[in-house]
Formats: sequence, C-alpha cells, structure tokens
Amino acid sequence: MTELYTLCYKSLVSKDIPEAQVGSVIDSILEKSRHNNAFNGITGVLLYSDGLFFQVLEGTPADVGATYDRICSDNRHTDVEILAEAEVSRRTFSDVWMGFSDLTCFEGTSLRDTCQLMIGSKGLLNTDEMTTVLANVAGLLEHSEAA
Ligand SMILES: Cc1cc2nc3c(=O)[nH]c(=O)nc-3n(C[C@H](O)[C@H](O)[C@H](O)COP(=O)(O)O)c2cc1C
Repeated sequence: MTELYTLCYKSLVSKDIPEAQVGSVIDSILEKSRHNNAFNGITGVLLYSDGLFFQVLEGTPADVGATYDRICSDNRHTDVEILAEAEVSRRTFSDVWMGFSDLTCFEGTSLRDTCQLMIGSKGLLNTDEMTTVLANVAGLLEHSEAA
C-alpha cells in the first residue's frame, strides 16, 4: 500500500497584498494548486479567514514534501508554520485536489469557531488533535458546499 502523509500549516497573507485583491490572489492560487495537485496526487483543503491561511496537504511523503517546499517559498504569504504532520492510513479529502472555504463569510457555527481556534493555535497539534481538526474541516466543507 502507498505510504500516506498529512501536513497542516498556517500562514499569513502577505502584507503587500491589498485586502481588495485577496480574492483574486486566492483564485489564482487555487487554479494552479488544483492543476499541480491533480498531477502530483495531492488532496486537501485551503481555508482562509481574516488574513490567515490554513492548509491541509495529503499525499505520499515525497509529494507532500515537494509541494510544501514550493509553498514555503511563495511570497504571497509569510510566517508559514507547520501545525501538525503525521503518517495516516487514509485520505480525509480523497476526492478534492484542493477544496477551499472562506471562513470570513461563515459566521455563527461551531465549526468556524473550531477552525478559528486551530488557526490561532500555537505550536504543534498532536495526532489526536489533528484527527479532530481534519474531521471538523471535512464537515465544514460539506456544510459550506450544501449551503
Ligand atoms: C496559501 C497557498 C497555498 C498553496 N497551495 C498549493 C498547493 O496545494 N499545490 C501547489 O502546487 N501549489 C500551491 N501553492 C502555490 C505554490 O506556492 C507555487 O506557486 C506553485 O506550486 C508553483 O507551481 P509551478 O512550479 O507549477 O509554477 C500555494 C500557494 C499559497 C500561497
């Protein structure tokens, strides 16, 4: 069976990007990401909220590592910080090359609060916390797609 790896990080949108342009910057990140990720077998999700990114990358350790290295050197964001990384037995986002949710428009749900908490969290999450976070993020995506 192929080895599977998950990495979660958070980062800040670059201060050089005016707020009015963040939406189009995210659109171009997603377009490139979905193209590359389909080719590299990377699944996951990108969340955005008030100047913060949170992303989950899933794939083989080599593909996740190469993708993360490219992402780290991207000047559209700064302060990239790994929150959790672990080998996993299955993908949480198995049919999404890179899902997206803008939590800024998603007020008043406990899922939003969970993600906000996690986005603001300091230091590495442990594996249990990561599993909880991933389950919440997957639920959030389903919820926002149904809306
Ligand atoms: C927040 C954020 C998330 C990104 N996510 C991905 C991703 O999931 N996959 C990817 O290939 N590139 C992603 N990128 C873009 C990479 O940083 C980089 O621009 C891109 O991979 C370069 O691809 P290329 O070498 O094919 O031009 C992301 C960038 C940012 C700022």
